[in-house]
Amino acid sequence: MTRRWGLQATMTATYVAVTAGVVLLTELVIFGVAALSPPTPLTRQAVQGLAQATAQGMTAKLDNVIGKLGTPKATQLDGDLTTGGGQVAAGQARPDGNGGVVIPRLTTAECDVASASFAVVVSRAGLVLASSYPACFPRGSHGSDAQQGVPRKVLSSFVRWAIQGGGQAPLPSGNVVWATAPITAGPGADQVKGAPSGAPSPTATGGAAGSGGATAVAMLYLEVPATAPGIGGVTVSPGLVRTGMVLLAAAIPVGLAFGLLSTRRLTRRLGRLAALTQQVGDGDFGLRVPVHGHDEVSRLEENFNRMAGQLQAWLDATRQLGAANARHEERTRIARELHDSISQELFSLNVLAGGLRRALPAKSPVLPQVEIMERTAGDTMREMRSLLLALRPVALEEADLPRALDGVCQAYRDRLGIPVRAEVDLAGLEADGLPPAVEHAMLRVTQEAVGNAARHADPARITVRLRGDRGQAVLEISDDGRGFDVAAPRHEEAGGLGLHTMRDRVAELGGLLTVQSAPGEGTTIRARFPLREAIVTGEAAVGEGVAGGGAAGSGVAGGGVAGSGVAGGGVAGQSITEEAR
Ligand SMILES: Nc1ncnc2c1ncn2[C@@H]1O[C@H](COP(=O)(O)OP(=O)(O)OP(=O)(O)O)[C@@H](O)[C@H]1O
Ligand SMILES: [Mg+2]
Repeated sequence: MTRRWGLQATMTATYVAVTAGVVLLTELVIFGVAALSPPTPLTRQAVQGLAQATAQGMTAKLDNVIGKLGTPKATQLDGDLTTGGGQVAAGQARPDGNGGVVIPRLTTAECDVASASFAVVVSRAGLVLASSYPACFPRGSHGSDAQQGVPRKVLSSFVRWAIQGGGQAPLPSGNVVWATAPITAGPGADQVKGAPSGAPSPTATGGAAGSGGATAVAMLYLEVPATAPGIGGVTVSPGLVRTGMVLLAAAIPVGLAFGLLSTRRLTRRLGRLAALTQQVGDGDFGLRVPVHGHDEVSRLEENFNRMAGQLQAWLDATRQLGAANARHEERTRIARELHDSISQELFSLNVLAGGLRRALPAKSPVLPQVEIMERTAGDTMREMRSLLLALRPVALEEADLPRALDGVCQAYRDRLGIPVRAEVDLAGLEADGLPPAVEHAMLRVTQEAVGNAARHADPARITVRLRGDRGQAVLEISDDGRGFDVAAPRHEEAGGLGLHTMRDRVAELGGLLTVQSAPGEGTTIRARFPLREAIVTGEAAVGEGVAGGGAAGSGVAGGGVAGSGVAGGGVAGQSITEEAR
């Protein structure tokens, strides 16, 4: 659970970081472009607007000063007649970036003809009370001649126009825009010295100075050149920066929600896989995980299912083999017991009965019974011998499988006088030999198949082959005799058991037996046994020979030990299917 959350947390954090990073990058690009883009010159109207905004801002400050001081000294006003800071090039206004223009303090000794940015406070009488350009507008004057009368004209108009206003004026030195704004004091405040007594008190009608009922005690006049450069395509104002910060902050919950939602399904699937893997690790191989979609995780799910199937198949095969080995061992034990006890007793009984028969006179009335006793003992002994043979082939008791197979061939060679050969190649087989149950089954299949060839085929040659092939042990008995139609039902009616018995024997060990034959074309009996390592590594493909062959494939589980499904199938039909390939 901790790990699942760990993955989800990591992926979500990545989403948040990526989203925030993208927003930040976008903002930086926008700001960068804004900063680097060349400024567009402002229109005259724009400069006018900036000038008026500056005038209003300035008078608001001056109102406060006058409100606090009552009748301020003119010098006390000087400090509030600058904005923005820094110098401005002559003939060009400079926006201050906060919606106004820069009004510098011009301390030159002489009044320059060129248009400049400056602010002046004048009394009602038109006298300069304070100015940011003392050389042109000395305190107590009506303005300097150097301005060729234009300021004076405006200043002298002040009494009549004691209202907020503005306009443009073509001066010889260049076009300028100007703005005026009344400076007020609260009711009862003294009027600025120099105001004509008895003159009606004009009342501000708007702008920053227009606090209700306030009296205009002076007028601010502000003038700037009409041309001004812009400050870039986009103004990086505090508002824009604030918006950027809000967007950045919003990106975090968005990334968080997106990350949580998009990783939820993936982490659930991985969690389910992890839980099932643990259960498989605990030995429960029957579990399967549902496969969703076609992504990498679905491949993981498919592989998990395949792995669980292989493990299940391996487990089944191991159990089958274990059971077969156990059966085989039990048979061997019983055979040994019978041989060592009852067989010996029967032999003694037979010898005693023979001795008794020979000792009795020919005319003895019990002689017939003794003869019956001797015969019965002999018959029972032979029965017992064949039973012991069925339980445990003598050949394997005395020799290993290759030699046992050779022994069978030798016996038939002697009996039939035809070449019966054994070709054994153990290279591809298990290092520590085949399981005893497999060896037993191989010997029995060889005996039956060679016997069938001898009895039914009239062959010129019989060959027994044993080899390893892709994780399987393959036993093949082929003859070049008359062959038979494996599909014909007559064999079952005839009551032959050999083929069925062989098939059952092989299937019992997880293998597959196939019969390849046709009239006139000889016969090949092929038994494939899966080897243990092959089951584990998934190499065994016992069923591949009959995979397309109807009933034979029914026992196939992911290409593992397929042969188990063969036991229930018909003997001949499957062989035909295989051989048709
Ligand atoms: N190698 C072969 N060549 C020709 N015909 C064969 C061969 N093997 C089997 N047959 C045919 O298949 C039939 C069935 O064989 P199967 O071994 O099952 O029975 P059987 O040999 O007749 O009797 P049983 O094996 O029970 O003693 C045989 O009767 C024979 O007709
Ligand atoms: Mg037979």
